[in-house]
Amino acid sequence: MAYPHLLSPMRCGALHLNNRVWMAPLTRSRAAQPGDVPSELNAEYYAQRANAGLIVSEATQISRQGQGYAWTPGIYTEPQEAGWQRVVQAVHAAGGKIVLQLWHVGRISHPLLQENGAAPVAPSAITANAQCFVVQPDGTPANVPTASPRALDSSELPAIAQDYAAAAARAKRAGFDGVEIHMANGYLLDQFLCTGSNQRTDDYGGNIENRARFPLEVLDAVIGVWGPERVGVRLSPFGTFNDMQDREADAMAVYLARAFQEREIAYLHIAEPDWAGGPTLSDEFRHNLRHEFSGSLVWTGGYDAQRADEMIQSGLADAIGFGRPYIANPDLVNRFAHQAPLNAPDVNTFYGGGTAGYTDYPCWQPS
Ligand SMILES: Cc1cc2nc3c(=O)[nH]c(=O)nc-3n(C[C@H](O)[C@H](O)[C@H](O)COP(=O)(O)O)c2cc1C
Repeated sequence: MAYPHLLSPMRCGALHLNNRVWMAPLTRSRAAQPGDVPSELNAEYYAQRANAGLIVSEATQISRQGQGYAWTPGIYTEPQEAGWQRVVQAVHAAGGKIVLQLWHVGRISHPLLQENGAAPVAPSAITANAQCFVVQPDGTPANVPTASPRALDSSELPAIAQDYAAAAARAKRAGFDGVEIHMANGYLLDQFLCTGSNQRTDDYGGNIENRARFPLEVLDAVIGVWGPERVGVRLSPFGTFNDMQDREADAMAVYLARAFQEREIAYLHIAEPDWAGGPTLSDEFRHNLRHEFSGSLVWTGGYDAQRADEMIQSGLADAIGFGRPYIANPDLVNRFAHQAPLNAPDVNTFYGGGTAGYTDYPCWQPS
């Protein structure tokens, strides 16, 4: 059998998965408008990819305040919950499993996306040198520089943790198999973790313990809804995407891995930084995380089946996430099993649009 480690079943917390090929979270900006509601087209797209051991949904805003890009789906209204329920039902009917990625963008946003044109919120009032995506007042969509954020008062944090819990509860009602908390890629919780974006002088800034406090409060709120065995977390240590810097990336990752171990969450998912211009993770770093965390450890970023199989065989990974390969190959697991060639993804159709570059990639046909 090809890639026997990658294609073997696994247990992840409470989940029993058919293989270790995970579909990484992929923003595709195709939620139905108005209202950012998951649609039948989105259900078809995910169901086509139900062969993955686990699908991690595209990042999904937990509140209006948490949105940084037009046309991304939410999970804070009744229609959004109902839309996701149709997606989950389609994936389950096709034999797959799916968790929802819970997202608050923090400073990666713009008044055009916010209630009453408000400023985006962040741990500190530091503007990111990054872009977000808006529909302008004249109706034309555009990438624009992110706006200057307002620093959150610590009295506002419990309500945001509550928004995560409410979104997690909606995900549960929609039938998801679990949730992944997005603490990666320069969004709100990552902004708290990293020294470049968090310059607070209260209990939520300064040393590692303080910078991790709010992300862990959010994690505990979500565990309160789901229990730890259906909760995963995504981190991007050393990541530079969205203008991130962290002087203590190594120590923070180890501190968090210990906190996740204590809470016995199902998995830790690392978005490796080098696909987006960041550094390559060292073997020592990988060993350190493995040493601290005995739940499922998942790595994503630039893998092919061979390297993924070797990582799992080595014991450093329990599963590997595939992003761009899943965009272009709905039947990725079958292609791996037959060592069949892969379709190449078309970057022009990653974000927005309809079926083209979304549900029309062909499956492999044996000749
Ligand atoms: C079009 C696109 C959308 C993405 N959206 C998300 C997202 O919503 N959440 C997230 O955590 N990462 C997101 N990522 C990062 C991917 O999950 C993954 O880490 C990255 O694509 C590297 O893996 P790959 O080399 O297998 O594509 C996105 C990447 C791409 C290319």
